[in-house]
Amino acid sequence: MPVRLRITLLFGSIVFLILLLVCGSVYYFSYTERTNDIILRLTNRAITRARLLGQPNFDQHVLRAIDSSTMMALKDKTLQAYNYLGQKVYTYSDEPSDTLTVDKRILEDARVKGRVYFRIGKKEAVAYHHTDRVSRLVVIAAAYDETGLEKLQQLRNILLFSFLTGSIIAFAGGYFFSGRLLRPIKQIADDINEISAQNLARRIHSGEVHDEWQYLSETLNQLLNRLQESFDMQRRFIANASHELSTPLTSISSQLEVSLQKDREAERYRAVMQSVYQDVRHLGKLTQTLLEFAQASGNTGGLEIQPVRIDEVLLALPAEVNKLDPDYTVALSFGNMPSDDNALIVFGNTELLSLAIRNIVMNACKYSDDHKAIVMLDTADGRLTIAVEDKGIGIPHSELRYIFQPFYRVNHTGSTGGFGLGLSLARRIIKLHKGEITVSSRPGEGTLFRIILPAGQF
Ligand SMILES: Nc1ncnc2c1ncn2[C@@H]1O[C@H](COP(=O)(O)OP(=O)(O)OP(=O)(O)O)[C@@H](O)[C@H]1O
Ligand SMILES: [Mg+2]
Repeated sequence: MPVRLRITLLFGSIVFLILLLVCGSVYYFSYTERTNDIILRLTNRAITRARLLGQPNFDQHVLRAIDSSTMMALKDKTLQAYNYLGQKVYTYSDEPSDTLTVDKRILEDARVKGRVYFRIGKKEAVAYHHTDRVSRLVVIAAAYDETGLEKLQQLRNILLFSFLTGSIIAFAGGYFFSGRLLRPIKQIADDINEISAQNLARRIHSGEVHDEWQYLSETLNQLLNRLQESFDMQRRFIANASHELSTPLTSISSQLEVSLQKDREAERYRAVMQSVYQDVRHLGKLTQTLLEFAQASGNTGGLEIQPVRIDEVLLALPAEVNKLDPDYTVALSFGNMPSDDNALIVFGNTELLSLAIRNIVMNACKYSDDHKAIVMLDTADGRLTIAVEDKGIGIPHSELRYIFQPFYRVNHTGSTGGFGLGLSLARRIIKLHKGEITVSSRPGEGTLFRIILPAGQF
């Protein structure tokens, strides 16, 4: 069922029930009020007549004269009195032809209960039992409450009208307002439909009013911002990667093309092959890094997750780095070691964690004259901090925010080789392990990278 219809039905039903309750109770109270009123009036009349009739030698003509001259809002008044034998001893009627035939059971009932209210035709009547020392009478006072019933009829019509129009207005109003309320949803859906990967720059119109729809539109717009950012990043990455891949390939093909143009000496061929070999190695390394990048992207699904002892990963570093470049040295410094081994464990992927730390350590060696990195490990408050320090060329302050972007290399690195992928790969891996990397550097003095990882969880 459409939401608009659901809101309309809910709203309409609530108002319908409220109206029903209000109109119903107003009518009920008016109805009982009128009945009580007529019972009281008829009873009073019956009591006074019974008292007068009970007096010895009371002249009934006088009573009839009183009855006929009594002004009452009630119509067709009738009065009858019966003695204890059930014989009619007095009768009066506004209309002389109007006689009441009262069931004997009612008289009996009145004698038992004292007072009985009943209807006879369109009239209402009260049978009242009067006893005193001289007489035992049942007086029946009946009348037609024309004004009261008319008023009640009028009230019923007014209530019925209010109830019906109120309900119709509630349903129609509910339908109209729910339509207005839900209109922004349609607008948002239409806006979203027009957004695709090609025009991600488009945004949802969020409106002027500060309401939930505006909040929804703004949240969706923020999501679109993030999507656009990551699309752009991906696009830049692909462009850079293709450029990096095509450079050595172009170099290889042009070198081979030139050497094939004519016969050359063996020495010359060796030199070309040497150069091509270097380009191929470069390509191989780049492909390897790109593969690692793909592995560290996305989520942890498909990765082998296990408890990793960070101190063991660090202990293996000096040998690994030295194997990659014999000039590079790593000095380890483990201060403030915890007594509990669990504080040194990180849940994650050993290869990726070791790759991330190695990239930063390799940078420290690569970008310092002494090719030396100092690696420190610290644990505190359930967190592991790995600090990598060097006394190298440092990074200018203005460049610090770019160095984690893929393919970004600082100009001063000059002839030092690299793709500009090491740090962004390291950051991806650390993020994957719910950690963070910070950097501080002074150009000409050195750089300090800090990797903070949550211990014992993933
Ligand atoms: N310890 C450091 N000292 C000085 N500059 C650094 C240091 N670490 C990183 N950089 C700068 O940050 C840039 C990005 O580093 P990153 O490791 O991502 O790339 P790279 O080392 O150039 O290449 P590779 O992909 O081979 O690691 C480097 O080019 C370098 O300019
Ligand atoms: Mg590097």
